[in-house]
Amino acid sequence: MKKRHKVGMSPVLVGLMGSGKSSIGRRLARHLDLPLIDLDEMIVERAGCAIPEIFANQGEDAFRDMETEALRDALGRHAVIATGGGIVMRAGNMALLRQHPPVIWLKASPEFLAQRIDGDLNRPLIAAGDTLNKLQELARVRYPLYEECADFILPRGDMEKSEALAEILAFLKEWRKRVGNSGKKD
Ligand code: S3P
Repeated sequence: MKKRHKVGMSPVLVGLMGSGKSSIGRRLARHLDLPLIDLDEMIVERAGCAIPEIFANQGEDAFRDMETEALRDALGRHAVIATGGGIVMRAGNMALLRQHPPVIWLKASPEFLAQRIDGDLNRPLIAAGDTLNKLQELARVRYPLYEECADFILPRGDMEKSEALAEILAFLKEWRKRVGNSGKKD
């Protein structure tokens, strides 16, 4: 049976590309009977073109502006929110994330992710090839940022998606007990 989420609880998923934010987010949203807001999809819809085109025609900075705007709009809503891997790259986004717990980091190693996304042309940051090196570089910069904003860290590895979902649900149950209906941390 689906359980309604308490008011104020809008879990936000963060993590490197390929960590399963959209797919696990979809399952989580279904289970909680909430909509899923996928920031990448929101950006593509608003821009009217795919992410590689935005990067190529307008540059990464323009993409990051769109991403911040999408994050602002999404965080006001009662939903599961799947972010793009680079959401933590702006201090303003980090501040927004910290104001909107719970944030869940799907933590996966660059080696694990490289196997999943190598050759994916829809991800401009790895389009030049050398996926593993690029992911290692991103992990070095971003892991500390994900850690800083996360209320819960889920180590991904070879875990089945159903197991990942169960762990997140167990965390959310504890979280609800801790914060009550406010959805805010102490
Ligand atoms: C990016 C990750 C992508 C997308 C864009 C930039 C990044 O999202 O937002 O290509 O900077 O890591 P996913 O993490 O959903 O692949």
